[in-house]
Amino acid sequence: MNVSPNTILASEGLRVSYGPIEVLKGVSFSVGNGSCLAVIGPNGAGKTTLFKVLTGEVASRAGTISFQGADVTKVPAHTRTSLGMGRTFQVSRVFLELTARENVIVAIESRRRNAGDYGAPWWRWRPARQVVEEADALLFALGIAHLRHASAASLSHGDKKRLELAETLALEPSILLLDEPTAGMAPGDRMQIVELIQTIRAERGVSVVMTEHDMDVIFNLADRVLVMNYGEVIAEGTVAEVRENPTVRAVYLGQDIYNAAH
Ligand SMILES: Nc1ncnc2c1ncn2[C@@H]1O[C@H](COP(=O)(O)OP(=O)(O)OP(=O)(O)O)[C@@H](O)[C@H]1O
Ligand SMILES: [Mg+2]
Repeated sequence: MNVSPNTILASEGLRVSYGPIEVLKGVSFSVGNGSCLAVIGPNGAGKTTLFKVLTGEVASRAGTISFQGADVTKVPAHTRTSLGMGRTFQVSRVFLELTARENVIVAIESRRRNAGDYGAPWWRWRPARQVVEEADALLFALGIAHLRHASAASLSHGDKKRLELAETLALEPSILLLDEPTAGMAPGDRMQIVELIQTIRAERGVSVVMTEHDMDVIFNLADRVLVMNYGEVIAEGTVAEVRENPTVRAVYLGQDIYNAAH
């Protein structure tokens, strides 16, 4: 696969089937270093499946994935994470029985272990002060420092999403894969997440691939948009290009795509 040096993540011809049903029918795309690609499309288009293939959770039966110039098609999920691919989930996955701070500490410790730093033996284990400080700094950056001692189970939906983002950032990814980061949030909370993602991009220079149903979120964040329908890419371009694309308009039932959320 021929990938330009400015490309951080790219795929070519990805195919995935669940049983007899082909869910990804040859998906190709690329993400520029430091840029934000939004993947949109109706329910069931294959967006989450594409994410799962990119992170290694689901294997493709054809096609290739390259990340930072290396072919990672056959690389297992945990190795992709330690190479710098961070993802969040459409439905949050946090350790509900732990506090917010403990959740982030677990992520930081996992990053340190991946880097070969095992810290104290488990029978003397307590997090280093530096780790606790890093966890608190992340919670602060995500606006949930005041909730550090609250159990993750007690957090609101929006705060759980923030916590999950903090955990993902703790892995110091070079690309963030965000599957519906604002799903189920009130409009005001959504714009807060948009601002957070903007800040994260500006401060850390991370690239972003995100799926999203909220068009306002996309128009605020995306440099380019990939439109999927029934497992195929039907359009790719800037927000303006995609919005004017007749095929995309047809998929969104002729509505102005501005009003096509949900
Ligand atoms: N584990 C599975 N087994 C069988 N079929 C599946 C599985 N996961 C997803 N599918 C099917 O694959 C298709 C694509 O699903 P996917 O979750 O990738 O869509 P999506 O674009 O993320 O949709 P949404 O916008 O609702 O999140 C759907 O038809 C779905 O029913
Ligand atoms: Mg999905």
